[in-house]
Amino acid sequence: MTDLHIDGQRLWRSLEELGRVGAYTDERTGLIGVNRLALTAADGDGRRLVKRWFEEAGLAVRVDAIGNCIGRREGRDPSKAPVMAGSHIDSVPTAGRFDGCLGVLGALEVVRTLNDARVATERPLEIAFFTDEEGCRFGTDMLGSAVACGRLPLERALGLCDKDGKRAGDELRAIGFSGDHPARLAPPRAYVECHIEQGPILAAAGMDLGVVTGVQGISWWELTIAGRAAHAGTTPMRLRRDPGLAAALINVRLDEMARSGRYGAEMRATMGRIDPRPGLVNIVPSQVVCTVDLRNPEDADMAAAERDLFAYVKEIETRLGVTVEARQTARTPRIRFSPDVQAVIARQMERAHLRFETILSGAGHDAQELSALCPTAMIFVPGEHDGISHNPREYSTPEACARGVDVLLHTLLELGAT
Ligand code: GLV
Ligand code: MN
Ligand code: MN
Repeated sequence: MTDLHIDGQRLWRSLEELGRVGAYTDERTGLIGVNRLALTAADGDGRRLVKRWFEEAGLAVRVDAIGNCIGRREGRDPSKAPVMAGSHIDSVPTAGRFDGCLGVLGALEVVRTLNDARVATERPLEIAFFTDEEGCRFGTDMLGSAVACGRLPLERALGLCDKDGKRAGDELRAIGFSGDHPARLAPPRAYVECHIEQGPILAAAGMDLGVVTGVQGISWWELTIAGRAAHAGTTPMRLRRDPGLAAALINVRLDEMARSGRYGAEMRATMGRIDPRPGLVNIVPSQVVCTVDLRNPEDADMAAAERDLFAYVKEIETRLGVTVEARQTARTPRIRFSPDVQAVIARQMERAHLRFETILSGAGHDAQELSALCPTAMIFVPGEHDGISHNPREYSTPEACARGVDVLLHTLLELGAT
């Protein structure tokens, strides 16, 4: 069985075809990007395409109540818990073609390869794409996998609203993916996700692939800072209560905290959205809504950073005369993946004479949710251009993608054999 290989060209064609769904041209750079924001019409189109591919590969496809789509290839013993692989096909609004799609289309390529070679597995094989991994629209990430694995109640997920007040549940129905299968997933035997690294580490080290040891902690906040609107020309500085200034100071403090080393060497902090109202050149804004994204591999360092950040926010409220309402929109602890599944993955890489190393994921992934349910690990594929991601320049070579998916094939075969 070790001479079985996936078809790298077929995988690449599928990535390209899915990449045309929701494609747009970036006005500034002329590059072609992808926008399949969760539960939009483009997401619906992408879902229908991949679901059709699942069906054409002979899978029994089910859609659950949060819109996760799961295809099942029966095993010799249907009573055994399946081995599972997957990821997501929703995207940030400024995406490339690989984030999430490699894991889903890679899993599909594994099924196609097994079908062509008429290989049966002892355990059933299930492949999936999970709803709204990115979290850009409804404020919280891993929506589908968090519901499937029990971290997030279904009703809460369906009731989340986007910035225009549209409910996730209604939007799911509108694109035809509110399924009737229960969302809670029975524990698989194991879950394996192949994903692009989305960072510079593996390529810089000259690695073919990475074995992912876990995911760092993530903490997301939305801050609504209220001040007082005023004329920019007539209002003396001492009379201002400027929420824009408050957001700027908090952003500077975030940068200082992350660079200080006081919260570990790997803390990261980002204010990705700063939205002033009314947002005009000659008006001190009345309100600013901004977001904070904190990452940390150590839970204690994360907690200390949150504590110190909000002590500073209190200080800013008093100093500037603004009020800050903080809402936590997502929080997940540091996740440690299964050493057993990591060992199975590493064995396939060794067998293929690949250069690889272990790596902690800087980004969040559906695998972090699945790891609460079953032994889980991930395969990382290096990216070009310093691993840029969430950007139209995101790119991994056809050879790198094929290597990752070949390892996925053999990992699933080993895990599914007994
Ligand atoms: C997922 O893309 C994340 O924000 O880590
Ligand atoms: Mn992803
Ligand atoms: Mn992403």
